[in-house]
Amino acid sequence: MIEGHFIVIEGIDGAGTTTQVQRLCERFQGRGLPVLPTREPTMGPVGSLIRQALTHRLVVPGMHGGRPPSWKTMALLFAADRLDHLEAEILPNLLDGVTVISDRYDLSSLAYQSATAPEEGGEVLAWLQAINRYARRPDLTVILDVPPAVAAQRRRNRVQASELYEGDELQVRLAEAYQSAERLVPGDRVVHVDGSRGIEEVTDAIAREVWRFRGEKG
Ligand code: TYD
Repeated sequence: MIEGHFIVIEGIDGAGTTTQVQRLCERFQGRGLPVLPTREPTMGPVGSLIRQALTHRLVVPGMHGGRPPSWKTMALLFAADRLDHLEAEILPNLLDGVTVISDRYDLSSLAYQSATAPEEGGEVLAWLQAINRYARRPDLTVILDVPPAVAAQRRRNRVQASELYEGDELQVRLAEAYQSAERLVPGDRVVHVDGSRGIEEVTDAIAREVWRFRGEKG
């Protein structure tokens, strides 16, 4: 049995990762290829805890009704969720020959948790890389580059309430981090796609990169 490919789609909030994971999976299905869409944070036990933190329902008690868990606690929760994700879902499917396409992976931790740490620098990044050390490397990471103002407008069009990391100033710094994401995951195969275009055009551009990587005709 040939192992499936592990493909990750990344970008800032509002970049369109969720939509594009679904659409890329449809392209695989259209070719009769086995594929599994998935996401982080997961729907598993640790992922559920993370979602409570993202929606301000998990707070550290204190003055003024408490505060969200620190960036360090969040980093460890995301890393634990990732290893659980790998064990429970990603690795068994890859071994079955299924291509797994994940909406976010450890690049999100390296970008978001370092951008929310009080001090920037190599030490924070080294620690984040260390706690994610046993996360299997993706075969291909596709980054959807979208100007922060475009992504902010898309977020405003959503019905759901604003989440923990959706502040405009943070998103500007995250967009910069994603632009030079190669330095966060040295050795990984990373491609950038302009995610500011129409939905169909973006799917076409992602699919072109994926078929090229797989050595298949576009
Ligand atoms: P989610 O509701 O899935 O947002 P989206 O659909 O926009 O991806 O929430 C995921 C949020 O968690 C998003 O703001 C990115 C953040 N995140 C991290 O900070 N670190 C991580 O390791 C991961 C996987 C996500």
